[in-house]
Amino acid sequence: FENKYRRLKKQTLVPIKRLPDALIIGVKKCGTRALLEFLRVHPDVRAAGSEVHFFDKFYHKGFQWYREKMPPTLEGQITMEKTPSYWVTRSAPRRVYAMNPTVRLMVVVRDPVTRAISDYTQSASKRPTLPRFEDLALVNSTVGWGGTWSVVDASWPPVRLGVYARPLRRWLRRFPRSRLLLISGERLVADPAAEMARVQKFLGLKQVITEKHFYFNSSKGFPCLLKSEGQSTPHCLGKTKGRSHPFIDPVAIERLREYYRPFNERFYELAGINFGWP
Ligand code: A3P
Repeated sequence: FENKYRRLKKQTLVPIKRLPDALIIGVKKCGTRALLEFLRVHPDVRAAGSEVHFFDKFYHKGFQWYREKMPPTLEGQITMEKTPSYWVTRSAPRRVYAMNPTVRLMVVVRDPVTRAISDYTQSASKRPTLPRFEDLALVNSTVGWGGTWSVVDASWPPVRLGVYARPLRRWLRRFPRSRLLLISGERLVADPAAEMARVQKFLGLKQVITEKHFYFNSSKGFPCLLKSEGQSTPHCLGKTKGRSHPFIDPVAIERLREYYRPFNERFYELAGINFGWP
C-alpha cells in the first residue's frame, strides 16, 4: 500500500518535468510569441519561457537535457515550448516524431509579404546600416522611386521563409494533418479569442481563454492581456513585438505579391485552408 501510495502521489500531486506534449514550431515573425503568451493564461498549460532550440541546435544533448528545460507539471497539464526555427529544420520532423509520434504541433502563419517586412525590421533594428528592404528583396533595382525592380531574390532568408508549402509538405510526411494546427497570424491580432478557441479545442483543453482575457491597446495597436499566469495587471507583449514597419515602395510590394501568389495557392491546397492573403 505504501509503495502504491507513493507512486500515486508522484503521479498526481507532485509536479515533475516532462517532455513536451505540444510544440509551437513556427513560423518566425508570424505571432509565435503572442500565441505562447496567450496559451500560458490557461491553468492547464505550462511552457518553457525562452526558446529551447532542442530539435535544431541541441539535439545531441539528448532527451534528458531537453526534459530538464521544461517547467514542472502536474498530470493532466500540458507541457510545451516554442522554437520557430523547427519549422525549417530539415531533420526536425523526424526528431520530433522520435520523441513522441502523437505530439501536437502548432504553426502560426501570416501574409508572407508582411512577414518578410517584419523579419527585415527586426534585423534592421540590430543593424542600422542595413540596406533598404527593397534593395535586399529584389535584384536589378535602379535607385529612386518607381525603379525597375524586376526579380525577387528568392534566396534572401526573409523572402525564402515565406514559402510555407515546402516545410509543410515535410512535416506532413511524418505527421497526419490532424496533429498539426495552422493558426492565422492575422486572426490572432484581429480576433484573438476566436483563434484561441480553435487552439484550445485542438489541444483538448477546457475553453478557459476567452474574449474576457483580451483588450485592444490602441497605442500599441495590438490586443493585450488583461491578466495572465503570475500577472494580474493588464500587459502587452514587449517592445520587440508589434514594431512599426518602414514604408516600402508599393511597386516592390506588388512584385513580392506576384512572387508569392503560386506558393500561397499551393500552401492553401496542402493546408486545406484559404488564408486569403492578397
Ligand atoms: P511585428 O513586430 O513586425 O509587428 P514572433 O513572435 O513570431 O516573432 O512574431 C512577431 C509578430 O507578432 C509581430 O510582428 C506582430 O505583428 C505579431 N503579433 C501578433 N499578436 C501580437 C500582439 N498581441 N502583440 C504584439 N505583436 C503581436
